[in-house]
Amino acid sequence: MQIKCNVLDRQFQMYQSEYEEAALRVLRSGWYVLGNEVRQFEEEFARFTGRKYCVGLNSGLDALILSVRALGICKGDEVIVQANTYIATVLGITENDAVPVFVEPDEYYNINADRIEHAITNRTKAIMVTHLYGQASNMAPIVEIAQKHQLKIIEDCAQSHGACFEGKITGTFGISGCFSFYPTKNLGAFGDAGAIVTDDEAFADQIRMMRNYGSQIKYHNEIEGVNSRLDEMQAALLRVKLTHLQELNDERKILAKRYREGINNPEIILPEVRDGAESIYHQYVIRCAKRDALQKKLEQSGIQTQIHYPIPPHLAKCYTYLGHKKGEYPITETYADEVLSLPIYTGMTFAEQDYVIEQINAWG
Ligand SMILES: Cc1ncc(COP(=O)(O)O)c(C=O)c1O
Repeated sequence: MQIKCNVLDRQFQMYQSEYEEAALRVLRSGWYVLGNEVRQFEEEFARFTGRKYCVGLNSGLDALILSVRALGICKGDEVIVQANTYIATVLGITENDAVPVFVEPDEYYNINADRIEHAITNRTKAIMVTHLYGQASNMAPIVEIAQKHQLKIIEDCAQSHGACFEGKITGTFGISGCFSFYPTKNLGAFGDAGAIVTDDEAFADQIRMMRNYGSQIKYHNEIEGVNSRLDEMQAALLRVKLTHLQELNDERKILAKRYREGINNPEIILPEVRDGAESIYHQYVIRCAKRDALQKKLEQSGIQTQIHYPIPPHLAKCYTYLGHKKGEYPITETYADEVLSLPIYTGMTFAEQDYVIEQINAWG
């Protein structure tokens, strides 16, 4: 049996007629960028998160970069970020010439709240939290620390559409919730797309201006902006998918439960869910000391897996200038050596999943 990491057309087929209707509506409308579909998606996504404002953007990376910029964080400022996140989170900081200050993750792969205060200096401006793999971070202590030190919280929700911490949805704990709608995400578009959500009107206005060349009125450029506009096609298709997000997340939770109940190989560490947190299982990430051997064996059995992420940002070539050394963040580095993401996607059949479970249990 051949099992891919992701099979994106299955979710398309599930709602095909709805997507086709939305796409045709856009094609026939004669308006393709920042129009009614974007406005309506922004309203609907803001409502979904319970926030007052949503601003649609080109990508999750832009949501992070522009959030940092709109807060006035710049050269010499420090932003705390978990060391095992995806490079995009860190780029959100360094693209503004600010300095990422890395903090080790906890056993749930999110930032370890107990280690944040040690990393705060008089240059710290914000804490950037990634709800990695779909599980909400430990937000109660993080919010408390941020309040105590008057720091902004920016949430990277690229992997956590709909995940909650103590009943509160991710993206609503700080000034900005940053979302990616890259096609593989739980709420994925059919191309690049992203958004921020916020309750702060001035912040939303600033991002709205930034995304369109720094202008509110055409050709009146108030600030140096960028082109990070969301197009009508992506917005229309996202509107369709948003109506199904709950069932899509529920399906992943069922698949995750089946992995948990099915995998019994003692060499494998399964992902745990923190008390009070919820995961929407953007990824199902196991750990194994002999990860590379396991990955190879699964590959030979026709099962594709992925590593999120093999090189932590502090050791990425692009960040050599930051001067970090191997061994500096040992938990992060161990995770990078041991994590393995198993196939989990919309429309994955139980027969496909049983095959993955069977092959994992037979290994070693
Ligand atoms: C944790 C995290 N942050 C940010 C991003 C960036 O999103 P995008 O690819 O839409 O720019 C991603 C996407 O892969 C991500 O996984």
